[in-house]
Amino acid sequence: TTTVRVSPGVLGFTAVAHSLADVAMVPEGYSVTVMTRLGDPIAAGVSAYANDGTDDNFAQRIGDHHDALHYFGLAATGNTPDRNSSTRGLMVQNHENITETYLHVNGPSAAPRPLAEALKEIECHGVSIVEYVDNGNRQWTYKQDGALNRRITPNTPMSFHGPAAGSPYLVTKHSSDGTAGRGTINNCANGVTGWNTNLTCEENYAGYFRRDVSDDAKRTAAELASLQRNGITSRSGNYSWSTASSTDDRFTRWNATISGATPADDFRYEPNQYGWVVEIDPYDATSTPRKRTALGRFGHEGAFVRIAEGQKLGAYMGDDSRGEYLYKFVSTETWAAADADATDRLAVGDKYLDAGTLYVARFNADGTGTWLPLVYGSVPARPASGSYPEYTFTSQADICVNTRFAADAVGATPMDRPEWTVGNPVTGEIYLTLTNSNNSNRPVTNTNAANPRSYWGQGNPNGHIVRLREDGDTTSATTFKWDIYMFGADTLDTDTADEQANINISGLDVSNDFSSPDGAYFSRSTNPSGQINPLLWIETDDGAMTDVTNCMLLAGIPGHVGDGGAYTVTNSGNSQNTFVGAKATAANLRRFLVGPVQCEITGIDQTPDGRTLFVGIQHPGEGGSYDAPSSHWPNTQDGSTPAASVRPRSALIAITKNDGGVIGL
Ligand code: FEO
Ligand code: CA
Ligand code: CA
Ligand code: CA
Repeated sequence: TTTVRVSPGVLGFTAVAHSLADVAMVPEGYSVTVMTRLGDPIAAGVSAYANDGTDDNFAQRIGDHHDALHYFGLAATGNTPDRNSSTRGLMVQNHENITETYLHVNGPSAAPRPLAEALKEIECHGVSIVEYVDNGNRQWTYKQDGALNRRITPNTPMSFHGPAAGSPYLVTKHSSDGTAGRGTINNCANGVTGWNTNLTCEENYAGYFRRDVSDDAKRTAAELASLQRNGITSRSGNYSWSTASSTDDRFTRWNATISGATPADDFRYEPNQYGWVVEIDPYDATSTPRKRTALGRFGHEGAFVRIAEGQKLGAYMGDDSRGEYLYKFVSTETWAAADADATDRLAVGDKYLDAGTLYVARFNADGTGTWLPLVYGSVPARPASGSYPEYTFTSQADICVNTRFAADAVGATPMDRPEWTVGNPVTGEIYLTLTNSNNSNRPVTNTNAANPRSYWGQGNPNGHIVRLREDGDTTSATTFKWDIYMFGADTLDTDTADEQANINISGLDVSNDFSSPDGAYFSRSTNPSGQINPLLWIETDDGAMTDVTNCMLLAGIPGHVGDGGAYTVTNSGNSQNTFVGAKATAANLRRFLVGPVQCEITGIDQTPDGRTLFVGIQHPGEGGSYDAPSSHWPNTQDGSTPAASVRPRSALIAITKNDGGVIGL
């Protein structure tokens, strides 16, 4: 038996050093098991992955670019949920994007794209649902023929719900009434509801659509403004899928140009079908995922759902682009505990996710904040600015589709790329990672209290983490308090001393310095660390520190909003402001993992007992090519040296403590 400390008190592992090795490094006393990798078969009879570009049928294989993940417990047998199971579960993971070169024998062919290549790339996107089994003492394997195994791809039928469903904005060839959707794409972070469903979030969907030059003249001024504001401006579309020909229109749909179309092949509003939060019932492999339009349309990173007894549901959501905003959705209905175990789970989703109020955050300089409602009738027209004409809203559906315009109109605070949102399960405090910004979006003349840093003509390259506490500790509060929990910093940076102080505001050292925070996670309240003060985990997607270390995962013991000491931000000798925030020390923040070459650390979850930690490793070797791979991970994880031709694969890993203890303590 293992003794478990009830309160973490101090972190119980030795910090992992910076590493440029092509291996996932974990603390002494921990082990890594490589689980589901790009291409692994998840249906009976599907062949093992050859990993030489010849594989196909990704609708029955694990996709690429592993991102957010969640472990949904299963009863010992059958398909029913068991929240307390730490030995059998469904792993639901997003597959955000692809490293195209490794998917084909000799890399991708030029446009027009061969049908099979385009289909393979499309099917590598989406979501996977796979059964995971502990074969005893945390010897994890996945079940290739699990009854609930499923791939959800950009071709999977979906339905629309909430205020924009059935509106003209969503009408396309395959949905004459604007209620049906096809597929999900660029699924980044996630959310988990209180009724055993998963939320997958569509982030950088915009670039997949092609709009050729002639399209501009065919749009109304309002349509053109909407397309531009949401970044749907590519003249080729990612991977040129729209150039592939087929007897059906799986590829044509990525060409959003009207091009003399008749209503029967009108794809002009296809981009409006993306940029949503999508609810999936992982326990019913035949269920149709539901796009929840009440939560708005933008570059959805994640959707942290907070459910508390006697309160309305709150969903906290970042829009990950430079200068975009933090949003909150509050349900109309108050949480009823009986819904937690309902069997028609998507109907519970209808109850809590289709009716409510969408808000956007304004961070005031005095440490207070305001949630600004985005409700038709009260949102003013967005004034003309730059290349945009004035935009007047015509309905709540319009606000749901053009959420960024509505947030502009009410005066939300532009942030340094809002990535993940996560809540402390004990206190309800919300943490928001702000991964970074550049000088054109965050010049020193345009900082604000919540985004105070800009230096050396680089903007805020290392990012920071903001946290907030709702007034009254309720999800439906319209005001909050906030501070900055932590600033990223490269402590080996050789800039001059005064700038160094600005860079390393939180007093990091080599055991915990990090840049570009992205994923974030609190240990579940069911595990021993969670009962008093759950650990906060931070993942990085870094471009600034990769000369000294690969991307990483850190574990911290967070404080609370307002409990830090004062510190000063001095921006390049220009403006100077004082803000209140906590300062990290090696005692309350420590590096737990460093990933392999050119990866990003993404999804994270634990079994309910806290004794297995699951982590996503995204795009190892993304800078290499099929004929010169720059990583061979995960084939390197066991310490061996693979042949130079071995291609890297995104993979999910399970981390366990050799003594069977709770991870991190
Ligand atoms: Fe897909 Fe914002 O990271
Ligand atoms: Ca990514
Ligand atoms: Ca991310
Ligand atoms: Ca990122």
